[in-house]
Amino acid sequence: MNRVMLSDPEFATVASLLHEAAGLSFDDSRRDSLSFSITERMRATNSPDVESYLAVLSGPDGSVERQALLDEVTIPETHFFRNPPQIRALRKYVLPELLRQAADGKRLRIWSAGCSTGEEAYSIAILVRELLPPAVEWDVKILATDVSTRALSAANAGHYGERSFVMTDPLDLARWFVLDATTGTYVVRDEVRSLVEFRHHNLVTDGPPFEAAEVDLILCRNVTIYFDRETTRRLMKRLHSRLRDGGYLFLGHAETLWQISDDFSLVSLGDAFVYRRLTEEPDDRRRVLPDRRTENEPRPTRADRRRGDADRRGSGGSRRREEVPRLPRLVTPAMPPTPTVVPVVPTRDPLDAVRSALREGRYAEAADIAAEVAAATPLWAEAHYLQGVALTNLGRDADALIVLRKSVYLDHEHGFAHFLLGGALDRLGERVAAARSYRAAAGTLGARPLDGVASELGGRSVAELAALCMELAHRADAANPTEAGTP
Ligand SMILES: C[S@@+](CC[C@H](N)C(=O)[O-])C[C@H]1O[C@@H](n2cnc3c(N)ncnc32)[C@H](O)[C@@H]1O
Repeated sequence: MNRVMLSDPEFATVASLLHEAAGLSFDDSRRDSLSFSITERMRATNSPDVESYLAVLSGPDGSVERQALLDEVTIPETHFFRNPPQIRALRKYVLPELLRQAADGKRLRIWSAGCSTGEEAYSIAILVRELLPPAVEWDVKILATDVSTRALSAANAGHYGERSFVMTDPLDLARWFVLDATTGTYVVRDEVRSLVEFRHHNLVTDGPPFEAAEVDLILCRNVTIYFDRETTRRLMKRLHSRLRDGGYLFLGHAETLWQISDDFSLVSLGDAFVYRRLTEEPDDRRRVLPDRRTENEPRPTRADRRRGDADRRGSGGSRRREEVPRLPRLVTPAMPPTPTVVPVVPTRDPLDAVRSALREGRYAEAADIAAEVAAATPLWAEAHYLQGVALTNLGRDADALIVLRKSVYLDHEHGFAHFLLGGALDRLGERVAAARSYRAAAGTLGARPLDGVASELGGRSVAELAALCMELAHRADAANPTEAGTP
């Protein structure tokens, strides 16, 4: 079937139906994308033309087909640990604070509203698990909801390919996921999965799935970008009513409550900006900034919406751009010092740009700049190492091997490079070499101050990394029993 292009009346009919069904707003810039979706559904329902398809939508099985159309038009774009500044804020401030506040009742309620295929909810579960191991008895529930049954079924399956891990620290991947060798996908570990419940829920037409003032933290990120202002306003009222006093609301980078709701305050946490339902406690008031969002702050633009459509069509679009906070920086976070091995140090460190791209999850850019620096100063181990960090984060293990080998050749004591090299070898199935690199990593890391931090490896301490390296070396040995213990 050839692709149809919706006429004006057809476009108006479908757009109005989707607005009513899920609050989705389609202006003319999305006609192309909507026409694509309708063509797909016409094919699936054997409808010879748009008119017949519209008849299916309003026929006896209309509700089934409306759901199928919603599955088709909604944009599931997501990945683990999306929006690094927010992830840092959750890890460092929000979750520790919520757990402290809930210490008496030991009960925590989190809502991932518009969770898509589940990466957001599982990321939060991982952050919770870092603070609350399974042995600790708490009543924690992360309810993850979405209007797309297709996305929810992927979320429940919990199998993820490389694309979902563009922002994932290799250490988190090793710790919280299991590789399914038959499919080559990663499966979320049970201790993480057990915290999350997925449920079908329409944010626009269904009643909220929580009691009033029950929820500690709501993430509703990159959902309202497709809603009009009035729909967003109504949704924010409902979310506000479910949050307890002092509870947090996380929106996406292009979403704002400016001129939408006065019920929240904008809070600056490190390099993230999040919303909070204000409490009357003086301590809280000191930490809460007045809402500083102004006219120069971005409303979702047509380009943002088109970018979502492009992502959905698999073009990749400019996904990396979205992770760059666009607000004025009110607080400069103190970043942990990066351990450096520097034989030749130019006056202005050209690797700073690489480090900041890594911190913000712009891995492709980080890899490009590091490659340039490495080409100009080929004996600088750190340049090769940082290129390796970027490449492993991009899932390019074979390329990472080359630069990480250069790095450890130039600096035998570079524990972090040995560690990354071990991981890349491990994933490429070279277990013996991997075990050797992990052991070299544990040995060389041990020579560093144990409370030092590797900011580009997720801010983990040297002590943690060294212990992990020994465990990974044993695991790699176990996979090659005859070779175990070879130097
Ligand atoms: C781009 S994804 C965002 C996923 C995740 N929150 C993130 O930021 O990575 C947007 C999700 O919102 C969901 N959505 C759109 N309209 C919705 C509605 N009315 N009710 C519930 N979910 C909705 C879509 O199905 C889609 O999975």
